[in-house]
Amino acid sequence: MSKRIGFAGLGLMGGRMARNLLKKGFPLTVWNRSQERCAPLAREGAKVAATPRELAERSDVVVACVADPAAVERLVFAEDGLLSGVRPGFRYLECSTVDPGTTRRVQAALRERGGDALEAPVTGSKNGAENGTLLFMTGGEQAVHDELLPVMMAMGTKAIRCGTMGQGSTVKLIGNSIISLMLQTLCEGIVVGRRAGVSIETILEVVTASGYSSPYFTFKGNAIARRDFEEHFAIDLLVKDQTLMLQQAAALKVPLPGLAAVREVFQSARAQGFGREDICAVIKTLERAAGETA
Ligand SMILES: NC(=O)c1ccc[n+]([C@@H]2O[C@H](COP(=O)([O-])OP(=O)(O)OC[C@H]3O[C@@H](n4cnc5c(N)ncnc54)[C@H](OP(=O)(O)O)[C@@H]3O)[C@@H](O)[C@H]2O)c1
Repeated sequence: MSKRIGFAGLGLMGGRMARNLLKKGFPLTVWNRSQERCAPLAREGAKVAATPRELAERSDVVVACVADPAAVERLVFAEDGLLSGVRPGFRYLECSTVDPGTTRRVQAALRERGGDALEAPVTGSKNGAENGTLLFMTGGEQAVHDELLPVMMAMGTKAIRCGTMGQGSTVKLIGNSIISLMLQTLCEGIVVGRRAGVSIETILEVVTASGYSSPYFTFKGNAIARRDFEEHFAIDLLVKDQTLMLQQAAALKVPLPGLAAVREVFQSARAQGFGREDICAVIKTLERAAGETA
């Protein structure tokens, strides 16, 4: 019999991931801080829980995809949080991008009640969530990874176990640091190219055909060429991840001069009102810095 799944956090990613669980036939209950976001899934057959506690009580596995560590704190540890619904055998799949300290604390609390957790942050963005092609980076026990693999494969196509709890989140934060610097350098190049009379299309044609190439440059470069800044992954959320990465590095006494500088550019983008736009909207901040007005 299919495990009963609970899904917490029906944002840009979570809403699409939950829908894929429903499509694959898992009995689904959902919870979201703003309840109105549950309505579309309820119409498609999901039950709605009033609190995270109720969500846990009605489910064998709760999957979470919420914004940040404060949201996980509210979801798990609040008075009506899911922890009070945890009993032996219960499983929690943490798909939010948060810091390793948070996922370890959640795991320890669940284990005290006979449950367990697997961290499984994702990559693939809004389209991957929609199409069920996400990649999961897991941290936790191999046995729990194996047990929850069918749940992950209803939302994605690959799950790589990165190690123990905390190491999956570490890899995810490393990944988002990489895309931060890639996006920064792509945008800088586009602004210089324009000033020098070289089009984005020409830059992308060479990048794509060469050793510089990455699907990421194609994805974001094409969006910039169209001036399409609709949210796939918000600047606010990337700054959250840059900050978590810098905090972790500081705790490990590792300097990150590149990421520290790039985060300031993304902070400027937030200050200029682009926080809820896609991360490629950071080019607007670089264009302003270069004296462009459009
Ligand atoms: N977008 C991407 O491409 C992408 C890719 C990989 C990983 N991620 C990660 O996946 C997670 C979700 O991203 P998203 O793009 O889906 O974000 P989003 O659209 O902003 O959704 C955020 C979700 O978190 C909930 N939330 C925020 N603060 C909360 C709080 N204090 N208590 C309870 N719930 C709270 C929101 O509830 P409300 O509806 O009430 O606001 C919403 O359901 C983030 O950790 C993000 O870094 C995103």
